Amino acid sequence: MSDYDPVQVSALLPESLARFRDEAVAAFAASSTLDDLAAARHAHAGDRSPIALANREIGALPPQAKADAGKRVNEVRQAITAAFDARRATLERDRDERVLVDEVVDVTLPWDRAPKGGRHPLTMIQELVADVFVAMGYEVAEGPLVETEWHNFDALNMGPDHPARTMHDTIWLDPPSRGVVLRTHTSPIQLRALLDRGAPLYVVGPGRVVRNDPIDATHSAVFHQVEALVVDEGITMAHLRGTIEAFARAVFGEGLKSRMRPSYFPFTEPSAEVDLQCFACKGDGCRICSGEGWIEWGGCGMVHPNVLRASGVDPDRYSGFAFGMGLERLLMFRHGIDDMRHFFEGDVRLTHAFGTEL
Ligand code: DAH
Repeated sequence: MSDYDPVQVSALLPESLARFRDEAVAAFAASSTLDDLAAARHAHAGDRSPIALANREIGALPPQAKADAGKRVNEVRQAITAAFDARRATLERDRDERVLVDEVVDVTLPWDRAPKGGRHPLTMIQELVADVFVAMGYEVAEGPLVETEWHNFDALNMGPDHPARTMHDTIWLDPPSRGVVLRTHTSPIQLRALLDRGAPLYVVGPGRVVRNDPIDATHSAVFHQVEALVVDEGITMAHLRGTIEAFARAVFGEGLKSRMRPSYFPFTEPSAEVDLQCFACKGDGCRICSGEGWIEWGGCGMVHPNVLRASGVDPDRYSGFAFGMGLERLLMFRHGIDDMRHFFEGDVRLTHAFGTEL
């Protein structure tokens, strides 16, 4: 019989308590995660853990033994708590360090990797051209892409058997007997504007046109033109000449001359073709202009009396001029682009190069 404790409670023996403590400390040390540690705490320091059960035995002891056992149990419980707290501190620090590494945000990474779009140069040039003419007092006019044969041809002095019609490589909508076409030029805008607004009239009309043309570096089945029409009393070819010069200066700057050569269009009389001094050689002659020094830009002339009559305007009172220029050509001259197909391939590198011009 022990001289110390008359009630032999094995759970309260010093060696038992030391074992509970050692097992708890070992279990905490073996826990490699906070979840493991929580489970180890439940097992070794929870309500049903050996040390908790030992604690409950104290009440049944005689007073002296109670105090001694209480002291021993307390020491062990403190040791277990201290071991737990230390291990938890370590595991929490490890976790925080891991989170800092795993969830690190590199604030130097680019945040706007979705590429910005760019406005298409054809859109921008149409707006620019419209602005140039609006600044001179013109109005902007429009017309439909799907156009009647009458607006596209007949009223422009191109009757059904006019040879110029065949030059337009027209796309007809089915059935052809309906007389509906995809407009082959922006000139029908002239008629629509005159019919809508009457004379006097100063309009500019950029737009898309379609011809059944094979596609190559300088041709496309779909392309863009800008049409201008002035009808007023006393309009002469001098006004036309000056306006074309002003237009060329506005889009190409000073220094690139334009010239007019006699030509033929059914809807103008007299008619002329407009050439622009070659942007590459400034008129000396080079590969781009085939040694000519000039590049064809568009057509122009004095509005034919038949066109005025078709739109209800009295040709004895009014006269007018008109011109139509290719916008892809304009851009090609202006920016040294050597292949028209770039405009239609949808490669964003082209639009990016133009950026957003305001
Ligand atoms: N519409 C003509 C074409 O596409 C270009 C043109 C020539 C327009 C003379 C005009 C003009 O307004 O007066 O070939």
